[in-house]
Amino acid sequence: MVLRDTFARPLRNLRLSVTDRCNLRCEYCMPEDDYVWLPREDVLHFEETSALVDVFLSLGVDKVRLTGGEPLLRRDVPALVRMLSAKQGLKDLALTTNGVLLADQIDALKAAGLGRITVSLDTLRPDRFRTLTRFDQLEAVHAGIASAHRVYGTLKLDTVVIRGVNDDELVDLIEYGRTVNGEVRFIEYMDVGGASRWSPDRVVSRREMLEVLTRRYGPIAPIVPGTNVSSAPAKQFSLSDGTVFGIIASTTEPFCRSCDRSRLTADGMWYLCLYATRGLDLRAPLRQGASVDALKDLVSGGWAARDDRGAEARLALGPQRAFVPVQDLLRKDPHLEMHTRGG
Ligand code: GTP
Ligand code: 5AD
Ligand code: SF4
Repeated sequence: MVLRDTFARPLRNLRLSVTDRCNLRCEYCMPEDDYVWLPREDVLHFEETSALVDVFLSLGVDKVRLTGGEPLLRRDVPALVRMLSAKQGLKDLALTTNGVLLADQIDALKAAGLGRITVSLDTLRPDRFRTLTRFDQLEAVHAGIASAHRVYGTLKLDTVVIRGVNDDELVDLIEYGRTVNGEVRFIEYMDVGGASRWSPDRVVSRREMLEVLTRRYGPIAPIVPGTNVSSAPAKQFSLSDGTVFGIIASTTEPFCRSCDRSRLTADGMWYLCLYATRGLDLRAPLRQGASVDALKDLVSGGWAARDDRGAEARLALGPQRAFVPVQDLLRKDPHLEMHTRGG
């Protein structure tokens, strides 16, 4: 039986943040000078993560994505991938990475059974990359993307579009995507926890993006999704030559209505929405020896009561200031940060 929430949304898609640390400081995600990190002793061991994933799989989850922070900063991620990829019922195992450490690990990840890879890439210009992320690592990211192309044949590239920062690179990124068989997905800048430099005028809407791309490429056709797709937030489009790209319009056209995803942080807090301010602690019961059935009850009870529609609620607030405006609040609870709960 499929587990459904109060809006009849199924539980399917689990995002596993394996660390809150990152080796970049992207302006839209980690712009501050210092952060409060999760205590190391709270971070789940892979065996613990694996045990929780079993609980989720038994309740209908069939897609898992490893995220961070930067997931590849966690030691021996391929070992976790090996544990997860062996599980019955897991149809899709993916990784979102900034690409810096990817080239070194790609063969081990593939051998361990990782299904697919998404690399964040916001600019092709080294100087801009440095300004945007505070590190001079564009070369390493290119090497990571090239390695994913070599080993997987294809990948996705995620670009957060910010007005006045990289909104003049849409065409260049699509052209670059073609050279690595990468599907570029342009993401509207979101007012999530941690995005302390967000303001409404910096958001480039899907409509605007399509206008720019239509000017360059001519008519752009939306791709009608097949029936059994889970609630992928990206709407896909194709250019007249068949090149496919996506736009994730989480800010101007949220997809909450069909959102089947939840998030587990590296320390075992379970969040039902990207915007949720409270999560359910699964680490404590797990470490206290709760039975599988007791954990299943916790998760199914949590999902059954789920009424979150965070991005829609954010949109309804209008152009006022950030959703989590108070830096003090973020300091008190690092779980509110996007880099803790997974991008
Ligand atoms: P696939 O379609 O399965 O490849 O994955 P995905 O579309 O979930 O892609 P990915 O994990 O790369 O997420 C892309 C971006 O979508 C994220 O970086 C966020 O900007 C946005 N996003 C992801 N999850 C959520 C969510 O729960 N709510 C909202 N509003 N946006 C999200
Ligand atoms: N707006 C949109 N996407 C964001 N991400 C992080 N912060 C934001 C934000 N403020 C997403 C990006 C990045 C991934 C790791 O997290 O897609 O590539
Ligand atoms: Fe950038 Fe991702 Fe690191 Fe955030 S977690 S700073 S988006 S690389």
